[in-house]
Amino acid sequence: MKRAAIITASDSGYRGEREDLSGPAIREILEREGYEVISMDILPDDQVMLAGKLQEIADSEKAELILTTGGTGFSERDVTPEATEEVIERKVPGIPEAIRAYSMTITKRAMLSRATAGIRGKTLIINLPGSPKAVRESLEYIIDALGHGIEILTGESGNCARK
Ligand code: MTE
Repeated sequence: MKRAAIITASDSGYRGEREDLSGPAIREILEREGYEVISMDILPDDQVMLAGKLQEIADSEKAELILTTGGTGFSERDVTPEATEEVIERKVPGIPEAIRAYSMTITKRAMLSRATAGIRGKTLIINLPGSPKAVRESLEYIIDALGHGIEILTGESGNCARK
């Protein structure tokens, strides 16, 4: 079973002032697709804390996938891409490119997402936007392709040949 961790970046969510609807939306989609969700964290928009949590989860090898939500926009406090770039060893530009390309068929505001993705060790880290609507649109679009990537990353699958 593939294992996933979810991190919500939100100052107001961390302070308990706003209910996190995006983390549970991610969880619902992942579980439907057969992933085991091993942790859900709500952190403030703080680069040190976000990078620390990403690193901790990836290095523990408890999850092959980490999905973040929030903090990818233009607000001064939006630092999720910077935290992610700090810890990844290899970039995976195709995933945010695909999310933005598809999302721009829904709203041109998708071009405002600075989301990134990359690999640390055997863990794939992907930034998703912050709203539950944007999260669902983005994750539903990429989820099918992720399984194959994770299998190659973990050595479960050696090549891309299709039957
Ligand atoms: N992507 C999709 N699929 N649907 C959306 O509604 N909203 C955009 C964008 N990506 C959106 C989307 C908006 S309005 C912003 S500002 C950016 O994501 C960044 O969002 P964040 O700051 O919540 O991470």
